[in-house]
Amino acid sequence: MSQTARKESADARLSVHALAQRDARAQFADDVRRGLTARPKRLQPKYFYDELGSLLFDAICLLPEYYLTRAEDEILRARADEIVAAVAGPARPPALSLLEFGSGSAVKTRLLIEAILRRQPSLTYRPVDISPKTVESSARSLLQSYPRLAVEAFAGDYDAALSLLSNQAREGRGASEDERTLALFLGSNVGNFDPAEAEAFLTAVRGCLRAGDALLLGADLKKDPGTLLAAYDDPLGLTAAFNLNLLARINREFDADFDLRAFRHVARYDAAAGRVELYVESLRAQAVRVRELDLTVEFAAGELTHMENSHKYDPPQLDALAARTGFRLSRAWTDAAGRFSSNLFVAV
Ligand code: TRP
Repeated sequence: MSQTARKESADARLSVHALAQRDARAQFADDVRRGLTARPKRLQPKYFYDELGSLLFDAICLLPEYYLTRAEDEILRARADEIVAAVAGPARPPALSLLEFGSGSAVKTRLLIEAILRRQPSLTYRPVDISPKTVESSARSLLQSYPRLAVEAFAGDYDAALSLLSNQAREGRGASEDERTLALFLGSNVGNFDPAEAEAFLTAVRGCLRAGDALLLGADLKKDPGTLLAAYDDPLGLTAAFNLNLLARINREFDADFDLRAFRHVARYDAAAGRVELYVESLRAQAVRVRELDLTVEFAAGELTHMENSHKYDPPQLDALAARTGFRLSRAWTDAAGRFSSNLFVAV
């Protein structure tokens, strides 16, 4: 097929819904103001993923210290067919469609797409990602690779996507009757929620699904603090760059004057809470001006701004999480080294 023909047919298989694009900037402004005037100061992890942040996160996924990507990839390579067969069931297998929250570059998703396309002639993939550039470029690259794939992409945050998808489900406008949905929440995305938020999110995901549909949930497992901390504080400094990029983004988008050299990335492990905590530390007493928000923020020397938590799970917690959110944990797989788990939550 010629380049052009291929491009046209790929375009015909793509739709992109921009969710709540109009007030995204106002929301970001609000959250920055609220977070930087709070005590202790905090920023929200969803704002890491602008175009540069998404690229930096892809680079983190290539780091040997960030074992999560390799561990999950190992599981999906070995088990994608089994996972897909478990969702489809034995008798008169219904066609599957894929829905993914936080799809990013969707590299790992390819393993599941390929497994599904081994069983059925075509597939609709619905990725949700906060970065419009990322969701569109990953969709285009998937469509180039898979002529039997169609992509209906959603650019926006989870809340916007969940309310749209649950309305569709309620009105019967979602997947067709003879279709089953496999939802994906891969990597350590669920870890970025605290336990109550994780429950609320999964309950909302359940609201977009029907009984028999499933959610494949990635969860990083509790392990020795040394391994965990190395994954979130690599010697090359990519994680630090990823973290500080949120300050740089505020400089770019709100004409602020964060001096990035006057802050440093900090990762800590709270064993009791089972979570890695990520901060930026102000290296001196300083005032930062955020011109477009007409805001001046004072930082003390050594002051920490909380950026993100990454919660680590153990198997009983995952069982309980499924039971509390309208799912049943039907199967769980780990990598050979037992670092990471992929959990098949079946909607009851
Ligand atoms: N979801 C990823 C995780 O918790 C995000 C992440 C990886 C991250 N490295 C980070 C977030 C460093 C902030 C800082 O594993």
